[in-house]
Amino acid sequence: MSKLTGSKKATQFTESVIREMTRLADAHKAVNLSQGFPDFAAPQLVKDAACAAINADDNQYAITFGQTPLREAVAREFTRRYGVDVIADQVTVCCGSTEAMMSTMMAIIDPGDEVVVFEPFYENYGPDAILSGATPRYVTLHPPSGSVTTWTFDPDELAAAFNEKTKAIILNTPNNPTGKVFTRDELEAIAALCRKWDVMAISDEIYEHIIYDGQQHIPIATIEGMADRTVTINGLSKTYSVTGWRVGWTISPASVTGAIRKVHDFLTVGAPAPLQAAGAVALGMPDDYYTKMAAGYQRRRDMLLTILEEHHFTCYKPLGAYYIMTDISTFGFRDDIEFVRYLIRDIGVAGVPGSSFYKDPAKGRTQLRFCYCKKDATLLAADERLAKLVPATTGSRAH
Ligand SMILES: Cc1ncc(COP(=O)(O)O)c(C=O)c1O
Repeated sequence: MSKLTGSKKATQFTESVIREMTRLADAHKAVNLSQGFPDFAAPQLVKDAACAAINADDNQYAITFGQTPLREAVAREFTRRYGVDVIADQVTVCCGSTEAMMSTMMAIIDPGDEVVVFEPFYENYGPDAILSGATPRYVTLHPPSGSVTTWTFDPDELAAAFNEKTKAIILNTPNNPTGKVFTRDELEAIAALCRKWDVMAISDEIYEHIIYDGQQHIPIATIEGMADRTVTINGLSKTYSVTGWRVGWTISPASVTGAIRKVHDFLTVGAPAPLQAAGAVALGMPDDYYTKMAAGYQRRRDMLLTILEEHHFTCYKPLGAYYIMTDISTFGFRDDIEFVRYLIRDIGVAGVPGSSFYKDPAKGRTQLRFCYCKKDATLLAADERLAKLVPATTGSRAH
């Protein structure tokens, strides 16, 4: 057999469905509510700081694990907000939280180790597990139903996912794609299992500041006994609307920081130097920046909820992040893939098929995710196009 092929590892996952949807949306000039990037401007102060850093010739490799002012700002803000002492030596700056997650997984996982992952999950966690040699164990988040208004997991199912081989649990709160914000009780239950089985938590908190309706973001590192067993992951992308800058970080206990820094160094050397300098300025913005940003997203959330409900989608109202998961059963298509292709080509609006967020695609067959980190004009253009969409009268329709 020819050796001119990709690796076995690379055959175990497909290209990103979310990025594919963006390409399809561009090809059909659809309103793109698939990939989670803002179509509005980043804060002027942050852009000016990046330009100033470039003009000051901050243009060479930064210290591999991150420029000191940014690491100090990350440590200072975490300590100030959550009362857990963090120092700059615990912070590793990476090329986005995507690389932070990959470097963390590669640094702490050995082949055969098990990793618990809630599903629906942010699609990167699947390939991250495969590339790091982890065996994922999935725990389902169930959509709101009846008197239960948030996505929930069955504590027994979660407990059953832990065993001697479990090395880590991947958590994402506020959550993409569900908009769930994990409660203190839920985090306590997860933490108890981590302590019982000597497991680490890898907590992706990239939507930390995008939170609604008086909810509170609780980092699992703040739960008793968790600071020494949690890697918190975050970045500039979502909070400052700079997804293309590729600056993220880990906050980790000393026991694993060296391993994460080594993996990070040999993967990417370092994150963009002038953009790290701008990041340090961004993290110094006053608290009302974050309050206004969250209020802006809450307004957009309510606007897209109204639009989608008017056009016959069943919506699961998010409490954080900037996505709405919907149920599309009413349209009578065979599955989410068939529906999303119709939606992009014939209606002119793009979303992400629910199946891409599950290990077993069947679980997401009736779901579709839309994002609302978009200008009002973009959401209104989607509204206009969705007016052509009609619910099926009976059964499945053929397309
Ligand atoms: C849960 C989650 N984590 C990480 C990322 C990627 O973040 P970054 O741009 O910092 O790599 C995203 C982007 O959509 C996300 O939704």
